Amino acid sequence: MNFKVVAATASLGGLLFGYDTGVVSGALPFVREVFQLSEAMQGFFVSIALAGAAAGAGVAGQLADAYGRRRVILVVAALFVVGALLCAVAANVPVLLLGRLTLGVAIGVASMLTPLYLAEMAPADKRGGVVSLNQMCITVGILLSYIVAYLLSEVDGGWRWMLAIGCLPGVVLGLGMLGLPDSPRWLAGQGRLDEAAAALRTLRGGQDVTAELNQLRTDLTRENGALVPWSALLEPRVRLPLIVGVGLAVFQQVTGINTVIYYAPIIFEQAGMGSTSAAILATAGVGVVNVIMTYVALKLLDTAGRRKLLIVGLAGMTAMLAILTAGFAVGTEGPLAWIATLSVAAYVGFFAIGLGPVFWLLISEIFPLAVRGRAMGVATVANWGANLIVSQIFLMLIAGLGSAATFGLFAVMSVGALLFTLALVPETKGRTLEEIEADFSGERAAARL
Ligand code: GLC
Repeated sequence: MNFKVVAATASLGGLLFGYDTGVVSGALPFVREVFQLSEAMQGFFVSIALAGAAAGAGVAGQLADAYGRRRVILVVAALFVVGALLCAVAANVPVLLLGRLTLGVAIGVASMLTPLYLAEMAPADKRGGVVSLNQMCITVGILLSYIVAYLLSEVDGGWRWMLAIGCLPGVVLGLGMLGLPDSPRWLAGQGRLDEAAAALRTLRGGQDVTAELNQLRTDLTRENGALVPWSALLEPRVRLPLIVGVGLAVFQQVTGINTVIYYAPIIFEQAGMGSTSAAILATAGVGVVNVIMTYVALKLLDTAGRRKLLIVGLAGMTAMLAILTAGFAVGTEGPLAWIATLSVAAYVGFFAIGLGPVFWLLISEIFPLAVRGRAMGVATVANWGANLIVSQIFLMLIAGLGSAATFGLFAVMSVGALLFTLALVPETKGRTLEEIEADFSGERAAARL
């Protein structure tokens, strides 16, 4: 077996994360009508999945250590299927919400485990690319959900199919995982060295794996096998990376990206776009920009560097949010629909070359090995928590403050994120994880705080 088979199968976890978060944008305008949902209830339909995701991300690490990555991903695949079916057949709001909650838990666990499993299965020289591959799959999943939504937007009861289609990658993920081994790293950590060796041999297509196996043993001894206590996160050497990780997690959400990803058709309708299907088509355009710019980012992360991309991305996001704010403040209907579409698309593009992929990459790089799993868990839960709050209150903000003030608020947050990055985020390009760790605990770190 080749690593490509593993990568293609496991990255369906990222695709499902994207599809099942993006699909609400196309389904919401219909769900709103069918079930007569208020603004708060529409927000709840979106955010109950995010609450599930925060909880899922919170327990994913422990479950995967106790039961193995493979078994937990199998359960996640089943949850993706069950959740999608519940949403698709829902005859009332409670069943719909239960379906979204189930999907949310699956999304949250997948957001932690897909990159983890991929990184542990990859040959050392491919490990770095794996985190970025996951973000790429997320954006492709979002785009697929938009395309499906567009194709089904004129079909009677089409929204049920939009939600149901999420089953398919779930089924493929489940069947695929049945044929894959657990990660050699987890097996070795359980003391199952023979199985770890067998898994490695299968993964490396019969090559000699002695060197890799020895490396795995050394790594595990360095980690000492023991689970560090939560209090280790309070040690001084973890302080700055934790501030950076959690800070970027929160800024990634409070600058508003998912108000666009989840509510774009509603924003475009607000800006005077005539029909729901035109608004969904414009949304699909935004999805294309997201995928293309994420691809550009992946090509640049190792040459231009993470910090530079983050800064350029945030500066661009701020500018686009300012234009959008001004557009809503003074705009008349016709031109406003255009200004909104173009500035929202450019805003998503700037997010996709910076804050989108860089956050997920940095949290896999900046923490000392001993606390990496725990600290990544905290940053991931913070990311879903902030996402939950923003997505829940967005429609109420629009109704209460108006669109201009709401996007003005995101522009201010974006300036905050830029200042935070300039002050605290180090460059990690081309450096080993050990060098990054030393930088964070040395004098330079003290000067930054
Ligand atoms: C990142 C964010 C996620 C967002 C996506 C958009 O993965 O973490 O919340 O939906 O980018 O591309």
